[in-house]
Amino acid sequence: MSTIVPTTIAPEVEAAVAGFMLTQEQMTEVVDRMTKEIKMGLAKDTHSRAVIKCFVSYVQDLPTGKERGKYLALDLGGSNFRVLLVDLKSNTDIGILSKSYVIASSMLSGPGKDLFDFIANCLAEFCKEQNLQGEPLPLGFTFSFPLQQQGLTKGMLVTWTKGFSCEGVVGKNVVALLQEAIERRGDLKINIVAILNDTVGTLMSCAFTARNCRIGLIVGTGSNACYVEKTVNAECFEGYQTSTKPHMIINAEWGAFGDNGVLDFVRTPYDRMVDKVTPNPGKQTFEKCISGMYMGELVRLVLVDLMAKGKIFVGENSERVQTQWNFQTSYLSDIESDSPGDFRGCNKVINQLGLVGNNVRDKVHLRYICEAVSSRSAKLCSCGLVTLINKMNINEVAVGIDGSVYRYHPRYHDLLMFHMTKLLRPGIKFELLESDDGSGKGAALIAATAVQNTTK
Ligand code: GLC
Repeated sequence: MSTIVPTTIAPEVEAAVAGFMLTQEQMTEVVDRMTKEIKMGLAKDTHSRAVIKCFVSYVQDLPTGKERGKYLALDLGGSNFRVLLVDLKSNTDIGILSKSYVIASSMLSGPGKDLFDFIANCLAEFCKEQNLQGEPLPLGFTFSFPLQQQGLTKGMLVTWTKGFSCEGVVGKNVVALLQEAIERRGDLKINIVAILNDTVGTLMSCAFTARNCRIGLIVGTGSNACYVEKTVNAECFEGYQTSTKPHMIINAEWGAFGDNGVLDFVRTPYDRMVDKVTPNPGKQTFEKCISGMYMGELVRLVLVDLMAKGKIFVGENSERVQTQWNFQTSYLSDIESDSPGDFRGCNKVINQLGLVGNNVRDKVHLRYICEAVSSRSAKLCSCGLVTLINKMNINEVAVGIDGSVYRYHPRYHDLLMFHMTKLLRPGIKFELLESDDGSGKGAALIAATAVQNTTK
């Protein structure tokens, strides 16, 4: 039996999500404003009051493709924490053994010492399982939070993001905190040779095979990007005028874009509602419009609003829909993966939300809301990438990308391609490459270069 699928959207639904539908003019304005903020972050005079911090990563060499050896890597940046053993055998043959550990939600806000002890314990367990106890392996630590670095092995946490709020870590050297936790155990011979952001790992891992990769992007729980800047422009790097190396990878920390109000012209009332219930209100404005941690909640808030007004799922009530953070971002991918006229993904979500949802029009509307939120995310992300490409002033570039939203959303890649093409100057060639375990491989590549440089 075929169902007639309504294609028109009710005016009330359209009105509720109108604010998510960014125009080309608004996007161009976002690029202009972001360009200014990036320049402020890079310059010594303005860095302290800049919102996009453009942190110096101390990574100046892209991979040569000749890095080899075995390295340990840690990946901390979301609710799962991973330990990896990366074996760089050739640039097409990289062995990876990894294990994920769940970080208890109580640990996200508990004492920092507990978090680092937990990490050291996982590391010890992993080394035991892999029979690595005797081997003094170098370790690359992917720590995906804003870090003010003073070198490859020294970085102070500026602020937590993505729901973390452990005490006693902000302002501290995270490498030392981890090294101390390792030493407290006394049974591991591990030397942390580098700390890096996940965006930097992603860029490095893609650049290992794609020679023109100059940007690393994450669209997952959080969102951020790094790019290759001229060393002379990285004014916050003490050697910016004297370094013999022409480039410096800059961790933009673009999630904080808009924390000074410059994005208010594209924010919706739902964005303000999401912001209020996060542990860091007023912070990470751009990230909260883009990333996986918040997209589901945005859809849920629109849904709750329209249900209260009697415009969708009329006569139904569901405690699950009313509960904060209950609309997972993976639901957007489920719903938007349905082909036209098919509602399998949508039905699954409706069911999980405790709704009956017998009305086809409601399903069309729910999809419309999801599309509005995910398209806006991709549009803003395109603005960010175009800002970085223009800033580098190059005609050809590859972007290495990782993160659950980019990986699992059915249209995200195509949306980025479409909007970037519209925003970029004609003639600029770009490629978007999905990175395969960038955090792990990138950490190993940076560790390899660090070890090489110290033994030179
Ligand atoms: C957050 C972090 C940033 C990280 C991004 C993606 O924005 O502050 O360091 O790169 O999430 O994980």
